[in-house]
Amino acid sequence: MNFKDSSPLYPAHAAEVARRTTEALNLSGFEGIILQSGEGLGWFLDDQHYPYKAHAPFKWWIPLLDAPGSLVYFQPDQHPRLIFFVTTDFWYQSAELPKGGWSNHLDVVVVHSADETRAALPRNLGKTAWIGDPLPELMAWGISAINPPDLIRRLDYARGRKTPYEIACLAEANRIGARGHRAAARSFREGGSEYDVHQAFVSACGQREQELPYNAIVAINESASVLHYQVLRRDKPAEHRSLLLDAGASFAGYGSDITRTSVIDKGDFSTLVFKMDELQLGLCTLAKPNTDWRDIHAIAVERITDLLCEAGVLRCSASEALESGASRLFFPHGIGHLLGLQVHDVGGTLADVGGGALPKPPRDPALRLTRKLEPGFVVTMEPGIYFIEALLAPEKNGPHATRIDWTRVDALKPYGGIRIEDNLVITDSGCDNLTRAAFLYA
Ligand code: GLY
Ligand code: MN
Ligand code: MN
Repeated sequence: MNFKDSSPLYPAHAAEVARRTTEALNLSGFEGIILQSGEGLGWFLDDQHYPYKAHAPFKWWIPLLDAPGSLVYFQPDQHPRLIFFVTTDFWYQSAELPKGGWSNHLDVVVVHSADETRAALPRNLGKTAWIGDPLPELMAWGISAINPPDLIRRLDYARGRKTPYEIACLAEANRIGARGHRAAARSFREGGSEYDVHQAFVSACGQREQELPYNAIVAINESASVLHYQVLRRDKPAEHRSLLLDAGASFAGYGSDITRTSVIDKGDFSTLVFKMDELQLGLCTLAKPNTDWRDIHAIAVERITDLLCEAGVLRCSASEALESGASRLFFPHGIGHLLGLQVHDVGGTLADVGGGALPKPPRDPALRLTRKLEPGFVVTMEPGIYFIEALLAPEKNGPHATRIDWTRVDALKPYGGIRIEDNLVITDSGCDNLTRAAFLYA
């Protein structure tokens, strides 16, 4: 039995999830909730399936990642019920429940068909909400509240503060991810291709590609300028200049989101990476309760602007670069986001539990978190500098042309870009850096 099955922290987590869900149900006017694990999605006109991913609201209750067709049914003041779907189909292996551990905290009913699933639910579902795929049979089952937006918003909000169990899962996802990053950087230094680096990562993590929390970004040289670069080139580059690896690992349904930039030579780009590392660590010290994430983002933009001026990429004053938006050409994304069961975790822009959105700064539409930080939030801190052809090319004859040192840009462009990304848990007085801690022992 492993941690995933038997964490001593799980019972308190389950009780807290039940408490927060009860509150959300009461405020939204529902008497019960059904959380669906999700269905295996088939390919068009084929008998093959996409990799199955359990739905996040279901995973919040239990770390059951391989049981499509299962449900958690919960009614306040009652034990949650797991309606566990076991296929009778001899082509596939059914999921198995751990003996002991988290499964002891639910009443388990094993079912083999949709009819048995319906029979395992209460007769009257008129005031029960369904969270999951809008299956055609739901109407016949008497369920009309399918993914009610008000309830979803309350549940999203409730997932913001992580329980100690969730933080332990995210810490473990960081430890596994850090091991993967170490092996991947070694593969790069030894002359590997993007594909080799990727294989080194998944192998050291001990995870199949489909188990990762998101598709790894493995970008060598210029490719590091593509923010969500998705290609895995198999040819080895003629020269190994830089590697931007944005890759996380999973644990019990939770994912890490880690980026490191490696450099081979000791030139100017290497100095820039070193300075970005210092800058990133400085930003981490700003993450504490009650701080508005939009303010941290604004400070990050200022500091990145200063660094661009110091590195000679921008040749105007820092204040002009900031005012004119020139520095945002080199840092066009947000400084970080909530992290948890989903890599871009839910609820990042909710003003309060009742709804309403906290606006994104008009010049930073890519910012995914606009809330004040609270103890228990887990966020990423991910400043970057990139040399993105699609953003820079039009500026050669555009308003920022004289603010940019194009010779400097041309010298740094072959390295693509830099991002350094850690995962932080907000504590009562500041934050703990799960990623740096994980690298110490990886
Ligand atoms: N890995 C995607 C991100 O950093 O947001
Ligand atoms: Mn991220
Ligand atoms: Mn990332």
